[in-house]
Parts: sequence; structure tokens; C-alpha cells
Amino acid sequence: MKKILVCGGAGYIGSHTCKALAEQGYDPVVLDDFSQGRREFVQWGNSITADLRDARATEQALRDVRPDAVAHFASLIAVGESTQDPLRYYQNNLTGTLNLLAAMHRVDCRKIVFSSSAAVYGEPTVSPITESARKEPINPYGRSKWMVEQILDDADFAYGIKSVRLRYFNAAGADAQARIGEAHEPETHLIPLILQTAAGARAEIEVFGTDYSTRDGTCIRDYVHVDDLAQAHLLALKYLDTGAGTLSCNLGSEQGFSVREVLVAAEKITAHKIKIKETDRRPGDPPVLIADSSLAKRKLGWAPKSSDLETILSSAWKWYLKNASPRT
Ligand code: UFG
Repeated sequence: MKKILVCGGAGYIGSHTCKALAEQGYDPVVLDDFSQGRREFVQWGNSITADLRDARATEQALRDVRPDAVAHFASLIAVGESTQDPLRYYQNNLTGTLNLLAAMHRVDCRKIVFSSSAAVYGEPTVSPITESARKEPINPYGRSKWMVEQILDDADFAYGIKSVRLRYFNAAGADAQARIGEAHEPETHLIPLILQTAAGARAEIEVFGTDYSTRDGTCIRDYVHVDDLAQAHLLALKYLDTGAGTLSCNLGSEQGFSVREVLVAAEKITAHKIKIKETDRRPGDPPVLIADSSLAKRKLGWAPKSSDLETILSSAWKWYLKNASPRT
């Protein structure tokens, strides 16, 4: 049974990946400091409580687990917060990764799948976005992801650590059985906020900007189901097992939905009217982000199965009703 150390495995995408790993005969071991992750999300495999910023604890975890490969989700992810407190973001996202890579090198573990982001592209001028598009991240969060990708290149050259960097577009949805799902504190993401409004936990949802040059004036995003992202990690691990080199891939549904279109679909699925308040643009929001995911299809054999908007929203709604607190 192959052991995979899943850093940040108690988080949203990490926990869905642990589920997929266990279902396909791997042995996931979660490493998490539980600052963002949830203990109740560790349902597949054992866990170690450790902070990647603690070099000694990180190396000890690698020595104890002796993983065949690492999947690295552990990071701070709030774009707005990253502009307010950039050093905390660099400390967490960069130092944590440096400690992890140093520990991997010491125990001779040479395979890593890294959670990157469409944020590495900043405000792209082309759509759909291919991996070769310019990397001009516009906030510390996006810059931290792009810096790690470059560090991974150097780690490949110097130590032979091979990586697959998966650039997620808008992760959304939840486990079909509603065992795990999306919940950030504080919540800033569109779909969880819409569902909270539908449930009456919020009076209204703000629509950030209605004057974009898009079909209805609101921003367009590419929503991709978290279970499809999880599957991509399994394929990436298999890819690394073939001895293949380092690779960066976009992961998106290749379909774009505007904020208004998501709202209409959510009203249908929840059967609730959702009150909106149109407000100014949120700084740093690109008008359109749609992935070209053909590289992931070609190189990894990835094919999203659950990333239609209805499956995304209905699974997220089921999880919300079962698990989220009624008031925020
Ligand atoms: N939005 C609203 N109202 C809200 C929240 C969001 O109108 O209350 C809009 C945003 O303006 C945006 C869209 O809904 O147009 C989606 O916003 P999210 O905050 O859900 O997601 P983002 O597209 O901003 O960010 C996502 C990831 C980031 C990643 C980024 C890549 O969450 O981690 O994609 O660019 F960096």
C-alpha cells in the first residue's frame, strides 16, 4: 500500500483527496496544524499534528511516515487577507514549503503534487488560459504560489525532486455523501456565501461589480468540482510513478459562469429566493477566468466528471444543510 503524506489533508481539497486516495488503495497520512483544517475532516487515514513552519517537526514527520510521495495543500488562501498581511502569507506558504522540501530531500522522497492556483496568472489577457500564459500574479497569495512553482523547478534540478503543480481554478462542491465540504473562516467564496444566504443565515449576498465587459456585467469564473480536483491528484501521483518529469497543469471545467448565472442556478437548486446587493468591484478581480485544461487531459488522462454547475451546487447545498451552522 503506497503511503502518501497529505500536508493540509484536514482542509477542503486535501480531505477530498484523502478520500479518493483511500478509495483507490493508497494509505493517506494527514499532516496538518489544524489552524484552518478540521479534525472531523480526517476520516481517511491517520493524522499528525504539525506545523510545516516547524522544520524539526516536519522532518520528524517525514522520518516517521516515510511516504512514497507527498501531496501539499497546506497554505493560507484568502486573497484579500494576503494583501493585508503579506509576511504571514510568505511565512506560511513559502517557509512551510521550504521545510517540507528540505525534509523530503533528507529522507529521499522525490515526488510531490503541489496545490497551485489560477492566481499565478493575475489578470490574464487571453481566454481560455493555457499554462504558457504570462505569470503576473497581482497579490501576495498568487505570488507565493508562483514562487513555490519556481522553487520546485530548482528542487528538481538540484535534488531530483519531481513535482506536478496543479493550478486550480474555482474549487467548489462537496462530497456526494455530505461527509466533508467547503467552509472557510471567515468565508469569502461565492458559492458558500450564496448558500448561506439561501438558508437565511445571511440577509443578502453582495455582487461585486456589475459593469464588467462580460455578457451580464458580472465576473465569469470556471467552477470545478472538488472531487474532480481530488482525482487529478491521483493521476498526478501515477504520472510521477512513471518517472516522468515536472509538470504544471490547469484544472478547470473549461466552462465559465457569471456571478448572476450562479445565483440563478442556486435559486433553482435550493428552491429559495436569494437577495442580492449590487456593490462596487472587489479590487483584484479579473473579469474572466476560464481554464484550458487540455494539458491535464493529455498528460494525466484527467476528465472532470462532476464539474457541471448543477452537481457542484447540489452537492454543496446538501453538505451545507447537513453540516453548517444555521447562523454565521
Ligand atoms: N463574488 C461576489 N460576491 C461575494 C464573493 C464573490 O460577487 O460575496 C464574486 C467575485 O467577485 C468573483 C466570483 O464571485 O467574481 C468568485 O469569487 P470567489 O471569491 O469565490 O473566488 P475567486 O475567483 O476570487 O478566487 C478563486 C480562489 C482563489 C484563487 C482565485 C484564482 O478562491 O484561491 O480563484 O484567481 F486565487
